[in-house]
Amino acid sequence: MELSEQIIDRLVAAATAARERAYAPYSNFAVGAALLLPDGRIIPGCNVENASYGLAICAERSAVSAAIASGVQRFDAIAVVADCSPPASPCGACRQVLSEFGDFPVVLANLAGERELASVRDLLPGAFHGQLLTRR
Ligand code: THU
Repeated sequence: MELSEQIIDRLVAAATAARERAYAPYSNFAVGAALLLPDGRIIPGCNVENASYGLAICAERSAVSAAIASGVQRFDAIAVVADCSPPASPCGACRQVLSEFGDFPVVLANLAGERELASVRDLLPGAFHGQLLTRR
């Protein structure tokens, strides 16, 4: 799917706003994400850390969980915003979780206005997927 500049701007703005709500007292590395739905709605997510460090939930997975809980399972794009250069790229766990829901554009952005465009498949070629569970 081709994303217009206008849609990318909206998505990055939503991820930037979600980043402001991050709960990241341990790393102080706030991340926001925003999923674009086929009907144009946007679902935000942010990282949620924990005193038990390993339990941190990334912004991308928090957005996916919010979307699933609200009854949506199809995504047209995701934007991820952090304050680093180059823009932060999703961790391995988030790449696998995004790939569960297909191949769609991933916009990586930062507060300085840098943007990179990738896709879920670019980020995780050869992902494990559910069909393999039935092929024994
Ligand atoms: N983090 C995300 O939320 N998304 C990413 O793409 C990279 C890392 C979070 C996890 C943790 O709360 C903090 O950033 C530092 O790793």
